[in-house]
Order: sequence, then structure tokens, then C-alpha cells
Amino acid sequence: MTANRPQPRPGVLDIAPYVPGKSSAPGVAKVFKLSSNETPLGPGESTIAAYRAVAENLEDYPDGSASALRQAIGEAFGLDPARIVCGAGSDDLLNLIARAYLTDGDEAIHTTHGFLVYPIATQGTGAKPVAAPETNFTADVDAILKLVTPRTKMVFLANPNNPTGTYIPFDEVKRLQRALPGHALLVLDAAYAEYVRRNDYESGIELVATTDNVVMTRTFSKIYGLAALRLGWMYGPAHVVDAVNRIRGPFNVNAPAIAAGIAAIRDTAHIERSREHNSRWLAWLTEEIGKLGLPVTPSVANFVLIHFPETQGRTAKEADTFLTKRGLILRQVSAYKLPNALRMSVGTEEANRLVVKALAEFLGKTA
Ligand SMILES: Cc1ncc(COP(=O)(O)O)c(C=O)c1O
Repeated sequence: MTANRPQPRPGVLDIAPYVPGKSSAPGVAKVFKLSSNETPLGPGESTIAAYRAVAENLEDYPDGSASALRQAIGEAFGLDPARIVCGAGSDDLLNLIARAYLTDGDEAIHTTHGFLVYPIATQGTGAKPVAAPETNFTADVDAILKLVTPRTKMVFLANPNNPTGTYIPFDEVKRLQRALPGHALLVLDAAYAEYVRRNDYESGIELVATTDNVVMTRTFSKIYGLAALRLGWMYGPAHVVDAVNRIRGPFNVNAPAIAAGIAAIRDTAHIERSREHNSRWLAWLTEEIGKLGLPVTPSVANFVLIHFPETQGRTAKEADTFLTKRGLILRQVSAYKLPNALRMSVGTEEANRLVVKALAEFLGKTA
């Protein structure tokens, strides 16, 4: 009898649960996890020390408003700390934003190969996710605008996007914002902003500061190396900050995360090292994998999307099995409607070279 028991709200059981990247390769001694876009350099020493120091006071609740962390973020980016909200990863904030603004019958637009948390967060509220087609694996502002209806309450845009690594220039983001109705909230997810080296890119800070319907989310999980601690932040107009603060958990960010986040954002030398490492190896991987005859979508983030043929013996799925046996764990992206591709995070020099060598072997070539 299932009728006489608590039922989740309509739509919840239609959600396809998020499946994180694999982290193990059975029977392999040395594993290189390149499946979740973590940094191969890890956090800096001062960040680890700050985290450890909190172990002396685990009995105390954290500061529920994370004020010292918001202050540090404000200093680093030149922002008003009152317009920042911290969360247990940007996932937490994306879900809070969805819960604060979406309800049954609303629509929220994301792009076809956009980050999977958007449709999940949307469906969790009873609203309907609407997928806008992309052009060349890149968000297409006109395609998004075509799908706007009076029911559209939110547009999620990852810029750069995961898992494609592509971005749209700031002019295009501004064009999108200008054409949206005032009641629709534009959520700019800039999880990979720190890696981008393009003059026409802007993470969203300027738009948040000058409009009423834009919010930007950021994470400490990527370049800052704190994915395990779950720490993210958002910057928004005062009225959005107020709404999100009303529904977030009172202690949604833990004390070790606050301490480590403050140290991480101040360790600019470590951030720069991580950025340099990424720029160098992103270019190298794109070129070397391309030379093997596998197209790589040009990426501005810390990962590459590698496309495989559909020929038997050469498919993405078979490549994944081949690499996993060698301890090289990439990410299958069928759930992102990319069944013929694998996503690879930029790793250490050793990992990057091993993947290129293994891919060459897989294709019967010599790297
Ligand atoms: C585009 C994008 N947004 C948000 C996140 C979530 O990051 P967090 O670890 O802060 O929840 C990710 C993580 O992979 C991501 O790729």
C-alpha cells in the first residue's frame, strides 16, 4: 500500500538524482581523480593551518552570519559585505535562490548542457525546468530569450559553463539581462570565474551592482581547493539577500569552512600559482588531445570536454573503461546530453601526461 503514506510534493520523484563524478578505480594502486574539477594543487598552507586551528573549538557554534568571511570576500573583490550571503557550497545557494523565488507553475530556464543542479533545484520547488538549446556547446542568448514566457521567473546561466568549459562575453550577458522581464531573476553562476583569462569576460559583479534582478554565485570548491568543506557565496541586490537570508539554515556554513575560506581568499600567491598551472596545462591538454584526432571544445575553465567518435572500440564509454583501468578517472557526461564525450579536469603534470599517453594507446597511436 503506497497510497496511505506520506507523499513528496508533485514533481519530486521525477527528479533524476545528481550523480557525482567517480572517485575510485577498483584494483588500481594509484588513482588520479579528474572527474570533479577539483584543483590538483589543493589549498595553500595557511588555509590548512587555519582549518586545523578550529579543531580546538569544535564545541562552539559557528558565526551564523559568517561576518568575518563576508568581510574578507568584500575586501578581496571590493564588495559590500552586507550584499554577500555564504552557503554550504554554491549548491546550497542555488537551491536557496530557487526555493525563495520559484513555486508551482513557474518556469526556470537553463541551457541544454548547463550544470545539472539547475533543473534539480527547479523541480524541487514544483517549478518546471526549461532547456534552451546551445550553439557550439555555448549558451545562446537568443535561444534563451525565445523561451521566455510570463511564467519565466528565473534564468540560470553558468558562465563559464560546466561541463562544456565555454563562456559568453559580458556584452551578451548584459543583452540577456536587458531583454528579460523585471520579475525574472538572472542567476549567474561563476564557479570557474577565477580561471578565465579573457578581456571580454566579467563574472557578474557589475550587473549585480547596477540592476535589481541579477544574482551571482561563486565557490571555494575550485581554485581555492576547499571542495571538501562545502563553501560558496553569492552577491546580490539587498532585496534578494534579504529573501535568501530568511530561508537559509541559521548555521549553514561551518566554522572550519569559515576559517579556511578567510585564509584562502587572502592567499593571493597560491591563487596565482593555481591559475598559472591551469593556463599552462589547459592549453597543453587541448593541443595534445586535439593532435590525437579527438576534438576538444575550447575551454576557459579548469577542465576540457573531449569528444569521441561513435565507432565501436573508440567510444567515450569504452575510453572511460580503458582509462579507469589505468587509474585515470574522467567524467562521463551522458546526463548532460553529451553521450559521446568525457570531461577531464586539468590535473597535475603527471596525470595530464598519463591521460594523453593512455588516450593515444586507446586509439592505437603513439603520443
Ligand atoms: C557550474 C557549477 N556551479 C556550481 C558548482 C557547485 O559547486 P559547490 O561545490 O560550490 O557546490 C559546480 C561544481 O561542480 C559547478 O560546476
